[in-house]
Amino acid sequence: MKILTVTGYKGGVGKSVTAVHLATFFSELGKTVLVDGDPNRTALGWNNRGQLPFTVADERQAMKVVSGSDFVIIDTPARPNSDDLKELAKGCDLLILPTAPDVLSLQPMLETARDLGEANYRALITIVPSYPSREGEVMKKDLKQGGVPVFETMIRRTVGFPKAALAGIPIRDLDEPRALAAWADYEGLGSEIREMWK
Ligand SMILES: Nc1ncnc2c1ncn2[C@@H]1O[C@H](COP(=O)(O)OP(=O)(O)OP(=O)(O)O)[C@@H](O)[C@H]1O
Ligand SMILES: [Mg+2]
Repeated sequence: MKILTVTGYKGGVGKSVTAVHLATFFSELGKTVLVDGDPNRTALGWNNRGQLPFTVADERQAMKVVSGSDFVIIDTPARPNSDDLKELAKGCDLLILPTAPDVLSLQPMLETARDLGEANYRALITIVPSYPSREGEVMKKDLKQGGVPVFETMIRRTVGFPKAALAGIPIRDLDEPRALAAWADYEGLGSEIREMWK
């Protein structure tokens, strides 16, 4: 069983969207459960409005459903405290820290990385504005320079995400080219994670 935890020090950066789409990716490869530990119950609500292709469990009932799973994706609230992040890292195979590509997010991410030290984590740059904006690339370069392990894959900003959330489906099921391009970003992320586990 592989456990992925999506977390970070900041709210509204695409943690829940990332958890839902990584779970969608891994559901093609094995039995997948998304454990919803977000107090807004974003993933549970998403699933209730439609249907997601994996089990979504309230964190308070997770013990019952995770046994026998191949992949467990845990969505969490923002944790400003780096001690919490360290403890979370110990409980999973990989900690994923989504961050938006803005200047204000750079410094806190560098500090988080310093606190996390040798823990098993990677930053994910999300909600990236499209070309000609260079914000995503600049953020990636700055994080790398600061010694932060960062996924090569970035997730583009797309209105398809809120649309998919409303419809209760993964973005790959929206019949639109832009939505499929955004889904390809999460497929790229999933592939990178699989490479790490080889
Ligand atoms: N790549 C994206 N493009 C456009 N909108 C996005 C993208 N990712 C997330 N969003 C939107 O941004 C908002 C916040 O996303 P999400 O709920 O995943 O963040 P979060 O980090 O889980 O927030 P919280 O800390 O409140 O749990 C949502 O409305 C979501 O639809
Ligand atoms: Mg959330």
